[in-house]
Amino acid sequence: MIRMLSLTAMLAVATPVVAQDPAHMPGEEAVDPYSVADANAGAQPFAGTEMFDAFHGQAGIDRIVDRMLDRSAADPRTAGIFVATDMIRLRRTLKEQFCYVLGGPCAYTGRSMKDAHDDIGLQPADMGALVEHLQTAMEEEGVPFHTQNRFLAKLAPMRRDIVTR
Ligand code: HEM
Repeated sequence: MIRMLSLTAMLAVATPVVAQDPAHMPGEEAVDPYSVADANAGAQPFAGTEMFDAFHGQAGIDRIVDRMLDRSAADPRTAGIFVATDMIRLRRTLKEQFCYVLGGPCAYTGRSMKDAHDDIGLQPADMGALVEHLQTAMEEEGVPFHTQNRFLAKLAPMRRDIVTR
């Protein structure tokens, strides 16, 4: 009995339950430490779940982000920007950000838009290309046009932290 108890105690010590650090998520490249906060998402979320529902919830958001990123990474205008990027982390954090901003039940654990894009030197044309792919992805998902535009208007002020050239 004592032996069983001590084995249980040893296992408890060997496998502590620790919260995942979003700067060092399994399967992702580590990034410099930063403070985690929803405010890093760069926009106040829409009230209610109307927008989240119009995007078909998390599954719809996942499809939109994946299609937007697949197209951006394959687009000769922007492909070079994504070559050295950890796409696993980018997919995860963008899905969190979209879910959070659209009023879904998500927290945003990524970096601020300024921190994330500071060193990339993005130009207006890069932004134009990404937004084009986002619009196509939302269209394919069947998000109504006026809902697409409400979301794009919410993202628009982030531009000043993203486009630096
Ligand atoms: C409204 C527009 C945009 C939003 C909402 C957005 C959002 C994000 C988010 C959430 C991250 C991840 C933050 C993290 O890793 O902690 C990120 C990183 C990144 N974004 Fe954007 N982004 C936008 C525009 C763009 C554009 C136009 C490009 C290039 C065409 C771009 C390229 C990248 C790259 C390469 C990274 C990875 C940076 C790194 O790993 O150091 N983003 N973005």
